[in-house]
Amino acid sequence: MNKVGGNLTIDIVTIFPNMFNNIFEESIIKRAKDKDKVIINIHNFRDYTLDPHNKVDDVAYGGGEGMVLMPQPIFDCVESLKKENSKVILLTPSGIPYKQKMAYDLSQEEHLIIICGHYEGFDERIRTLADIEISIGDYVLTGGEIPAMVLVDSIVRLLPGVIKEKSHLNDSFNENYLLDYPTYTKPRVFRGMEVPKVLLTGNHQEIEKYRLEESIKKTKELRPDLLEK
Ligand code: ADE
Repeated sequence: MNKVGGNLTIDIVTIFPNMFNNIFEESIIKRAKDKDKVIINIHNFRDYTLDPHNKVDDVAYGGGEGMVLMPQPIFDCVESLKKENSKVILLTPSGIPYKQKMAYDLSQEEHLIIICGHYEGFDERIRTLADIEISIGDYVLTGGEIPAMVLVDSIVRLLPGVIKEKSHLNDSFNENYLLDYPTYTKPRVFRGMEVPKVLLTGNHQEIEKYRLEESIKKTKELRPDLLEK
């Protein structure tokens, strides 16, 4: 179920704002912005540093490799954006694994603030700003910017009026835990590979049955772990 009316504001807090140039200026996300379904703002937390040399990171207490993001610029940036209805997300490889259900839940919010971590890590106290810590998968990226793009894309397409609701009801990873059924378009035969005959019959009952069977078959083959749920 999706919220009725209202739009979503997403504030992204990053040290590399240029990474977001153009990424939301194409296709469905651009359309959602043009239709005022979503407002996306990018904030450089370096603009909030009180350090005379604009520093945002420093060495770790106790020693260790690499630089650590300092709390002050990120705290000041997030606090300047935060409202009563804000949900603050911290992107980190040690967060909760991101799932479609979380995208649905986040699409119901009114204001998301997404903090992108960077370098070797961030000061542990930054975690106290977050309502939720999210990882997009069990691998380590150079920063939270690409994960932020993943979140925005997966959330915005679920906003009411962005794509036809029917299209995402069929998504893989919805509550039924089955992968999408296979789809085909023209031509009927391509390099000897034929479109399954049942799809050409116009018999909707048979087509539904075929699609469910194919979904189960595909899930068994590619993601048997989903069927255990
Ligand atoms: N930052 C670096 N790697 C990440 C990941 N896998 N998920 C979220 N944020 C990250």
